[in-house]
Amino acid sequence: MSWRATILTLYPEMFPGPLGISLAGDALARAQWSLEARTIRDHGLGRHRAVDDTPAGGGPGMVIRADVLAAAIDAADTDERPRLLMSPRGAPLTQARVRALAAGSGAVIVCGRFEGVDERVIEARGLEEVSIGDYVLSGGELAAMALIDACVRLLPGVMGADASGEEESFENGLLEYPHYTRPPLFEGREIPEILRSGHHARIAAWRREQAERITRERRPDLWARRRGGAE
Ligand code: ADE
Repeated sequence: MSWRATILTLYPEMFPGPLGISLAGDALARAQWSLEARTIRDHGLGRHRAVDDTPAGGGPGMVIRADVLAAAIDAADTDERPRLLMSPRGAPLTQARVRALAAGSGAVIVCGRFEGVDERVIEARGLEEVSIGDYVLSGGELAAMALIDACVRLLPGVMGADASGEEESFENGLLEYPHYTRPPLFEGREIPEILRSGHHARIAAWRREQAERITRERRPDLWARRRGGAE
């Protein structure tokens, strides 16, 4: 059984969207993973299939109803997969969490809209809140796509013989070193001499230094964690 993503959304037509293109899209066409977008509104109430209501205690916006979302979750085949709720309130998504999700059988992903989701369904259905960054999107769909893309590229056979998964940003706690290719001279800028030396060990050392410098300069938080960390 290949890796399965089940999405619960009010906008199923947003999928597969960009996940149907390029690396993830090719892998989808090869059935290396599967995607099912389910419509929360199918479980909405009344003639208008209402899914949301005004917040208890007052205030702006609308809240997705616990009973409606619970019915949508229960109607999906959620099996043993983690159930995620994309939310700016969630734990920040990391490459380590992406690796763990990719190593499993898939994920059930709830995409919120409006002001939020009734807290009781988060508790009652064991939803794990996940954020893709400290900014607010208009809904969880784009966040779900980012998470799925990050997982799918790690599935066995998806990146093929490309070993670039090993050296890239975050895998070793460092951001990536700078890359260069032809032409040798671009608008007066040359490729660093060392990269043309053919000295593999010195090139590796130079790349390491550059990765460390870039991490220190741009992400002091990552750098500090790395120093204090296991490595
Ligand atoms: N929904 C809205 N904003 C989000 C974010 N930053 N991460 C995950 N889901 C979201």
